[in-house]
Amino acid sequence: MLSKKIPYEQQIFVCTNDRQGAGQSCGDHQGEAVFKELRRIAKDRGLHPRIRVAQAKCLGQCSLGVNVMVYPEGAWYSNIGLDDVAVLAEKYLL
Ligand code: FES
Repeated sequence: MLSKKIPYEQQIFVCTNDRQGAGQSCGDHQGEAVFKELRRIAKDRGLHPRIRVAQAKCLGQCSLGVNVMVYPEGAWYSNIGLDDVAVLAEKYLL
């Protein structure tokens, strides 16, 4: 086993899980698009991978999607849409 310090200053997890209609999920609300846009902004700003935008495949709050959590802040956001991405970017992708 290898153990080391977390190699990122910050991680933003965006749920992209899509249950394909078998239940509510972040995929019903453009989770994938939210993820891609946040990651694009991080890359365009030269922040990736120091600040890592990663996909999560379910954060356990499926009816509230799109869900986003941010470490080390311990922040949680629900009902995120594409129109919220700019607000998140200005808060975390600096
Ligand atoms: S599908 Fe996103 S939290 Fe479960």
